[in-house]
Amino acid sequence: MKQKVRKAVFPAAGLGTRFLPATKAVPKEMLALVDKPIIQYGVEEAIAAGIEEIIIVTSRGKSAIEDHFDTSFELEASLEKKGKTALLEIARYCASMAKIAYVRQSEARGLGHAVLMAKELVGDEPFAVLLPDDVIAGTVPCIKQMVEAYEDVQSSIIATQIVDGPAISAYGVLDGKAVEGKPKLFDVSGMVEKPKLEDAPSKNAIIGRYILTPAIFDKIENLTPGAGGELQLTDAIKGLLETEKVYGFSFEGIRHDAGDKLGMLQAMVDFALKRDDVGPGFRDYLKSLSL
Ligand code: UTP
Repeated sequence: MKQKVRKAVFPAAGLGTRFLPATKAVPKEMLALVDKPIIQYGVEEAIAAGIEEIIIVTSRGKSAIEDHFDTSFELEASLEKKGKTALLEIARYCASMAKIAYVRQSEARGLGHAVLMAKELVGDEPFAVLLPDDVIAGTVPCIKQMVEAYEDVQSSIIATQIVDGPAISAYGVLDGKAVEGKPKLFDVSGMVEKPKLEDAPSKNAIIGRYILTPAIFDKIENLTPGAGGELQLTDAIKGLLETEKVYGFSFEGIRHDAGDKLGMLQAMVDFALKRDDVGPGFRDYLKSLSL
């Protein structure tokens, strides 16, 4: 029987050190792209893909995420009193957009460990993982494209983008071969974490969107912890390859690494220019700069 992807896990318990001091008291996932926290873009992407349940992995100091997706009575009462209906709608939408459950990761022990924290809430079904700091713009939401591909192949799928040149060394890179008749899929045989350019087995770099089968939890539990007790998701996916098929997926869209300062600035420009309200004024401002 074909299984559907109904749940999505958002690991949001990391320390966000690349954004210090901004992330000392504010979760990285709550940094705003124009006027919306980056995690909300991901949650909206999941909803647009038909995901019914969102699971956010949080930690100490991350309560702003829970507050963001909850009702703010004072704010709503104040906006209502002042007749600011458009803003009231925006505030209410945050609290009603999705069914969200939270689970804690008490120590930042890596992405694999963060995903493992969601084991009970996910149960025995395939699920999506979205890294909130990868913000992806596209006509069809990236995770929707992947959910549809999962419905076809019923195997784990990792989103990839083509990375040329030495920049590949910042990514996990897939080894494998193209799938005949399915141009977006890549049959994975292995993966290498942050290879030198000359050692990279392909140009298919792993980005922050996955569909995983529940077998991944056993694989994470059986990992030997690396430096700092970290459990890496890519190592667990390597384990999955021993027993199941795993596909790379080249999605359509533009991915911004908003967990990185330059990536965040690029995303900000891209998203701001597309906006009807601030876009035209921002474009004029950029044109006026003598760069
Ligand atoms: P990153 O490595 O980009 O986030 O993890 P980080 O560790 O918070 O950031 P830097 O490198 O120190 O700046 C990608 C996602 O995985 C989550 C992060 O919150 C982020 O959304 N994550 C990472 C966890 O939930 N737990 C972890 O132990 C590690």
